[in-house]
Amino acid sequence: MVLTVDHLAVRVEGKDILHDVSFVIGAGEVHALMGPNGSGKSTLANALMGHPRYAITGGNVSVDGQDITAAKPDERAQAGLFLSFQYPVEIPGVSVQNFLRTAWRSLHNDKLDHKIFSARLQQALADLCIDPVFAKRAVNEGFSGGEKKRMEMLQLAVLQPKFAILDETDSGLDVDALKVVAAGIERARHAGIGILLITHYPRLLEYVVPDFVHVLIQGRLTQSGGKDLAYEIERVGYKESAQ
Ligand SMILES: Nc1ncnc2c1ncn2[C@@H]1O[C@H](COP(=O)(O)OP(=O)(O)O)[C@@H](O)[C@H]1O
Ligand SMILES: [Mg+2]
Repeated sequence: MVLTVDHLAVRVEGKDILHDVSFVIGAGEVHALMGPNGSGKSTLANALMGHPRYAITGGNVSVDGQDITAAKPDERAQAGLFLSFQYPVEIPGVSVQNFLRTAWRSLHNDKLDHKIFSARLQQALADLCIDPVFAKRAVNEGFSGGEKKRMEMLQLAVLQPKFAILDETDSGLDVDALKVVAAGIERARHAGIGILLITHYPRLLEYVVPDFVHVLIQGRLTQSGGKDLAYEIERVGYKESAQ
């Protein structure tokens, strides 16, 4: 299993934001994407997820050789990409459980084995130390920052995509939420899910040790390396580490 981003260029609202971005994520690998505010990290996440306002103007994206550069969001999900952008919105009246059931159904061509689904949901709730009552709440309605992250990890555990792009907002996450995210990521990694972990501050990386680190500055990947690159950035900041 491999997610390939090859010479990607992205334009947003008539402005060229990403230039010549390339990386390859294998099964069970955690890649951290770091970079200062405004460097284009969320733009990359949105473009990979097929957000209509983020136009891919060059390069391509593929999953296991299947080109998904121009695919619709549901086709991307079918190809194995985890689309978290659809979910942070509040969906009053739709419970977490029903939402996950619908997502599961669409991923598995309408076939739903209720037993497998509920076993997996119960297991995921237990693994993430989430009160089962949570599954009955409306999606993201009145969720705290930490609860939204729990929701994201729950989706990851239940839906088991091939690849997940997690755009961490960092700010607003307390230590408990960071630990939930870290534990969820570790479990996903062991299940063979490849992860692009987007982070502004290296703090999350104290809890999740990435296999690879990529640095994005002004829309270009300026450095790629191992976990030591993250420690270097933490020590000296983006500017110095890029030299
Ligand atoms: N929807 C949008 N409309 C206009 N400009 C955008 C939009 N999304 C991102 N941008 C611009 O793209 C650049 C990169 O932003 P973003 O990808 O959010 O950076 P990061 O996530 O690294 O902080 C910024 O200059 C930002 O203003
Ligand atoms: Mg961002």
